[in-house]
Amino acid sequence: MCGIVGYIGKRQASEICLEGLRRLEYRGYDSAGIAAIRDGQLEVRKVVGKLVNLTAALEEAPLLGNVAIGHTRWATHGKPSVANSHPHLSCDGRIAVVHNGIIENYSQLREQLQAEGHRFQSETDTEVMPHLVEKYYEGDLRQAVAQAIEDLEGAFAFGVICADSPEQLVAARRFSPLVVGIGEGENYIASDMGAIRPKTDKVYVIGDDELALITTDDIELTDLALNPIEREIFTIPWPPEAAEKGGHKHFMHKEIHEQAEAIHNCLAGRLSSPDKPIVLEGLGLSDQEIRDLRKVVFTACGTAYHAGMVGRSVTEAWARVPSEVDLAAELQVRDPVMLDNTLAVVVSQSGETADSLLALRDMKSKGAKIVSLLNVVDSSIARESDGVIYIQAGPEIGVASTKAYTLQVLTTQLMALYFAEVRQSAAPDQIRTLKEALLALPDQVAELLAREDDVKQVATHYYHSPNSLFLGRGVNLASALEGALKLKEISYIHAEGYSAGEMKHGPIALVEPDLFTVAIVVKGLVYEKMIGNIQEIKARQGPVIGVANDGDNVIADQCDDMLWVPPCPELVSPITIAIPLQLLAYHIADMRGEDIDQPRNLAKTVTVE
Ligand code: G6P
Repeated sequence: MCGIVGYIGKRQASEICLEGLRRLEYRGYDSAGIAAIRDGQLEVRKVVGKLVNLTAALEEAPLLGNVAIGHTRWATHGKPSVANSHPHLSCDGRIAVVHNGIIENYSQLREQLQAEGHRFQSETDTEVMPHLVEKYYEGDLRQAVAQAIEDLEGAFAFGVICADSPEQLVAARRFSPLVVGIGEGENYIASDMGAIRPKTDKVYVIGDDELALITTDDIELTDLALNPIEREIFTIPWPPEAAEKGGHKHFMHKEIHEQAEAIHNCLAGRLSSPDKPIVLEGLGLSDQEIRDLRKVVFTACGTAYHAGMVGRSVTEAWARVPSEVDLAAELQVRDPVMLDNTLAVVVSQSGETADSLLALRDMKSKGAKIVSLLNVVDSSIARESDGVIYIQAGPEIGVASTKAYTLQVLTTQLMALYFAEVRQSAAPDQIRTLKEALLALPDQVAELLAREDDVKQVATHYYHSPNSLFLGRGVNLASALEGALKLKEISYIHAEGYSAGEMKHGPIALVEPDLFTVAIVVKGLVYEKMIGNIQEIKARQGPVIGVANDGDNVIADQCDDMLWVPPCPELVSPITIAIPLQLLAYHIADMRGEDIDQPRNLAKTVTVE
């Protein structure tokens, strides 16, 4: 989940790396560093804390040279400190390495290397790599990196430079993401296409156990035995400015506001009219396979898991297939009973989340067919899936996921409706009504975004509260969990998401004037029951923010504050409900002065287990 970037060409490499790191900072921000080679000497700058500190260090003592590697860290082994920051060096200081991932057998390697006389400076797993490369180096950097990798267990993406070969940059990967950016008279590496998008839209996506030898004019891809590999050039499908803030104070705010258009784009070409069938390219399932489905298992992490919860509900309700949802980290460690014709649906914004990838492999090994709902194109999860549906959100930079969530939810709804059409499991009238509801979403979401000031006003009443409870039930249990997750991630207010049906089994003990409750009480199956919950909280002097359908005065009369959403079928409503809950979390965090795009201890893409 660290970010790595590298440059070789004719320009000041450290400046280009710094710019790339700025775009990667969402991956981790405990410390940062850059190494560059100039006149046959390798020089390094490393700092603790965010990238502004590295920028200041480079202003004070610039790093010159035309080849450099950079790193922004999310600590796994060893606390954030200068010594533990990357790049890490060999004993002679001539080889530098940046790494994303975890080297699992590092302690054993470290002992061996120490016994052979290598001196270590840090507590990190990464540091074994420069020492291994040093051990194997006999004048050919790529050869030494390939040999070093043979000794490693675990996950990694590396960038390696050596003062003896300043005309080369070597990169390698197993499990952790890595791309090589193709320029003219200059080339790049990055753990994420977004880091180099302003420089080029052409990349090679590096596969597991592949190496890249990069010079200013050439890129050679090989396997670990150095056999050449042919790879098609991948064109990044979004414009450079897609990864800029575009006048918004935070990426999160920009991304919240992109949702009406993003929903429109996600529907385009898939659902054009209530009278036309849904088109789902990339699904990779024949109609017969869809008819034969006996079980659908959704799996994901974090926010994507909440989208998977909605997926489970709509697949069960509309497609009438027995459906489950499980956290990817849990699915791997249980032994689910597998039926023939099981479909596993992996939901992931990045397509690189380690636990989701491991769950995918586990389900695949047990015979399930895999369909993934992803945002980033050509990710690890994409490559190992039988079918991929892209949510088409464009780059999401804010660590707290917003537009990816609503589009993941929408995509599960489209898929469930598609299954329902093929399986004839729902009445045509019902399918038509649901399609109308999905088609109405872009306008409804635009309207909800236009009401931002109302949500901001509500936030002024609660931003100083220490505790909160989010209650929902049925399909909107997912909305309650997601609302609570958003608030806790960026504001650090303690937020519990709970099924309203469970309220009396514990959370009600927390209710007091200092804890505010967000109660999701839109029209539908659980409406009356939710009213009962609100009354129980009010009877105990707990303030309540109701999330209800426009004009529902029954709810407004009982709540202290309201977040209004336009009416729609209950199983579609998680999308509209997400908007005011995202805005509430955003404004509360902003009023508390928090660093919204880079919340403490979090990272956007969790590429380690
Ligand atoms: C991290 C991010 C979340 C995201 C989760 C799963 O925790 O901070 O925003 O929901 O990973 O990521 P994925 O890329 O698989 O959707």
